[in-house]
Amino acid sequence: MPRLTARERREGYQREYSFQKRHGKPFFPNAVFHDTIVSLIVVALIMGMAILWHAQFGAIPAEATAERIGGLLGPAYEAKADPGVLGYDPRPDWYFFFLFELLRIFKTPELLIVGSIIIPTIWMVLLIGWPFIDRNPDRRLSRRPIALALGVTVPIVLLTLTFYGSKAPGAAGQASTEPGAAAFAGGACSTCHTLANAGTAGNVGPVLDSANPDYATALNFITNGKGGMPSFKATYTADEISCLAGYVATWAAAKGTTPGPQAASAKATYPASCTKAGGLFAGTATNAVGP
Ligand code: HEC
Repeated sequence: MPRLTARERREGYQREYSFQKRHGKPFFPNAVFHDTIVSLIVVALIMGMAILWHAQFGAIPAEATAERIGGLLGPAYEAKADPGVLGYDPRPDWYFFFLFELLRIFKTPELLIVGSIIIPTIWMVLLIGWPFIDRNPDRRLSRRPIALALGVTVPIVLLTLTFYGSKAPGAAGQASTEPGAAAFAGGACSTCHTLANAGTAGNVGPVLDSANPDYATALNFITNGKGGMPSFKATYTADEISCLAGYVATWAAAKGTTPGPQAASAKATYPASCTKAGGLFAGTATNAVGP
């Protein structure tokens, strides 16, 4: 086929345009009518599914039990939230498993920002910018090696991350058995503080792995509170508070089973007070910190 000049192409386009204008179907009412019908069908489908979902379990009993009711089409309700639960295992929905896995790869406090913000941001910018970056008009795959490689790699990486994310043990499975850890993770502190050793991810108060308080600081904060941090004087005995403070000072910014840099400040008091405290605070320190 001979190459057309710009002028020929423009004329060809104008011929086609005026032909379509005379003989084609107008957007209104034709296309609008079709869109309306399809939208109505979708709404009817959603309503039908809601009715089926409701019909499958009949009347909802007034008093919810611990039992999950309902089957294939989703539960009517699930067990009531229990504020006393110690080992809550937060898990994302399946379509966020890839992010979940990314966070597990970059889990140290210094690297967390890479997995949680930097990589997803690069990802989104690339996604939005791709049409502007890759302006190659060729449609032959063999002439577009980079686009082809990306098109194959990205789904493989996402599927792999999703797969491993779906099998990842939750935070509850990794929680520490150190004395004080159970009390810390059991809601008193976990709702507000992130502490890797306890497997908590609260973000109201400072991330304790970064704040890295020594024993005296932790003792003071837990006893007296400050700003958004409540006092626990009325909640725990002095021994229990001392055990919590020792636990935090020892395990903040810990590297695996190696205690953090402030561990020495808790050395003498921490294991002793935990033994006295008992209950959630009992246990013997199985690390090198104890007396
Ligand atoms: C309601 C949220 C909340 C709860 C619950 C909470 N904290 Fe805090 N915590 C905070 C806030 C906010 C701060 C920062 C206070 C400030 O510096 O003004 C803080 C600060 C601290 C600090 C000082 C960190 C530093 O070095 O600056 C320690 C240690 C601490 N909390 C330990 C605990 C422990 C242990 C528990 C559980 C017994 C706990 N917190 C429960 C909100 C909370």
